[in-house]
Amino acid sequence: MSDEFKKQAADRAAEDVTSGMRLGIGTGSTAEFFVHALARRVGEGLDVIGVPTSERTAELASSLGIRLTTLDEMPQLDLTVDGADELDPQLVLIKGGGGALLREKIVAAASGQMIVIADSSKQVETLGRFPLPIEVVPFGLEATRHAILKVLDALDLPPELELRGGSDRPFKTDGGHFILDAHLQKIKQAELLADRLVAIPGVVEHGLFINLATKAYVAGTDGVKTVL
Ligand code: 5RP
Repeated sequence: MSDEFKKQAADRAAEDVTSGMRLGIGTGSTAEFFVHALARRVGEGLDVIGVPTSERTAELASSLGIRLTTLDEMPQLDLTVDGADELDPQLVLIKGGGGALLREKIVAAASGQMIVIADSSKQVETLGRFPLPIEVVPFGLEATRHAILKVLDALDLPPELELRGGSDRPFKTDGGHFILDAHLQKIKQAELLADRLVAIPGVVEHGLFINLATKAYVAGTDGVKTVL
């Protein structure tokens, strides 16, 4: 069922795309439904160009005939369409479940608008049930982990950090970094947490997307709802 909802949200977002748009194209299973919907429209004559947020999305989009470029060639985009792991009523997001948060955030920040596509299970009152991904450089991992734990302690958040993939075979992002997933349960001060995390030298980015999403299409049993 959730796949059907993901597809409905993705199809709705594809309707908002018009010829001439420069698009950021997200990563994940919901974003993949969007890539397919976009490809169908391109097949019917829609003329767009896209910047993918991961190698995985780049492969799929180009295999379906979507014209791609890079942010270096095209540093300003009109619209990014991407999934999310959680979204709250203010459109603050947790992203990075698929490990593409850094490129996703760079692309979203370069876009005039960002539409989030999700099934209704991703909607929460307070973010944090989904572990917050924190992308870190491999060098000095333990020192960075300690610095993050200090931040969590200061904000009264649980000291639960897990290296994605485990220490024997840590997951590597497209940028060659590691991800520490923080099991925080309830993030009450998202902006403060975001500011403190990015101030740690070994932290590359985190999955809190604040003031980036401009709209969401959320699909559930009662249809596709727009969140503004
Ligand atoms: C990848 C992401 C995805 O958008 C997020 O994980 C949602 O994925 P899915 O659509 O598969 O549920 O942030 O880094």
